[in-house]
Amino acid sequence: MAFQKLRLTYYVCLLLVGVLCLYFSMAPLKEEPFIFKKKYGTFLQLPDIDCRQDPPFLVLLVTSSHKQVAARMAIRKTWGGERTVSGRQVRTFFLLGTTANQDEMSAVAQESQQHGDIIQKNFRDVYFNLTLKTMMGMEWVHYFCPQVAFVMKTDSDMFVNVHYLTELLLKKNRTSRFFTGFLKLNEYPIRKKFNKWFVSKYEYPWDRYPPFCSGTGYVFSSDVASQVYNVSESVPFIKLEDVFVGLCLAKLHIRPEELHSQQTFFPGGLRFSVCRFRKIVACHFITPKEMLIYWQVLQTSQEDCPEV
Ligand SMILES: *[C@@H]1O[C@H](CO)[C@@H](O)[C@H](O)[C@H]1NC(C)=O
Ligand SMILES: *[C@@H]1O[C@H](CO)[C@@H](O)[C@H](O)[C@H]1NC(C)=O
Ligand SMILES: *[C@@H]1O[C@H](CO)[C@@H](O)[C@H](O)[C@H]1NC(C)=O
Repeated sequence: MAFQKLRLTYYVCLLLVGVLCLYFSMAPLKEEPFIFKKKYGTFLQLPDIDCRQDPPFLVLLVTSSHKQVAARMAIRKTWGGERTVSGRQVRTFFLLGTTANQDEMSAVAQESQQHGDIIQKNFRDVYFNLTLKTMMGMEWVHYFCPQVAFVMKTDSDMFVNVHYLTELLLKKNRTSRFFTGFLKLNEYPIRKKFNKWFVSKYEYPWDRYPPFCSGTGYVFSSDVASQVYNVSESVPFIKLEDVFVGLCLAKLHIRPEELHSQQTFFPGGLRFSVCRFRKIVACHFITPKEMLIYWQVLQTSQEDCPEV
């Protein structure tokens, strides 16, 4: 009797150890491995442009979501509405995914009909899918608009001075392998859970990120879009879109570089003044209301600004 009990205990222990071993060996797999596929999904909306007929100088791709209608409207009425800058064609398009909300989906389809400025594919529009959104932009440039000279990827809470950007790009006179923005050359993964930018060792095991530019706004020659798209399946996938693009650039041996000797990208925001905003390219944390006001003031101000 006692012997049988002992044997039972022995088996239970064995089973327990087995289960524990299995659990720890499987632990990394608990996090679902995501396999990035270049051709993921299909285009649901395409913008109204024929790049072969009339190649633009600059296309601005703005990440947006279904609910950000006010931000899109403000951008259309301000910097996104500019079609000709220094005699060059400039166009602004919005990047969206899909939601389960059918009303929002049909509202976006209608908006696309009306404005012809929406690029949409069928992936779930959530923060952690931002890399898919950016790559959709790269894919669109690669297949539909390789004729464009430059592309900017930015967000819908950004103020973009398309005039100054165009001026600087013309002055820079670069045509290929050019990538610029707010440089991040020595960043490392944040390992604190609950941080917005938390990245597990499973997702990214290395201690440093490659050089990249803040996702709030970066600009590149259009060949970079094709090249990044080309290598995108052969670099580790990471949900931080700007780091992911940085991994692609590292693979391509393209180094992000400064656009200008002065700072022009402000991912941390910047207090508005006419003279300041005339000499910036991009500023973060702008509400739709501020966007409209700043634009109006910049258009009408007669203020003389000191040369910098
Ligand atoms: C990203 O989109 C895909 C396709 O719709 C979806 O399967 C996946 O769950 C989304 N990712 C997240 C984190 O929701
Ligand atoms: C721009 O660069 C090209 C060669 O890459 C050169 O032929 C042209 O003169 C340059 N233009 C300006 C305005 O510097
Ligand atoms: C894509 O990569 C392949 C092989 O790595 C190369 O032959 C091809 O030229 C690349 N295409 C572009 C557009 O960079």
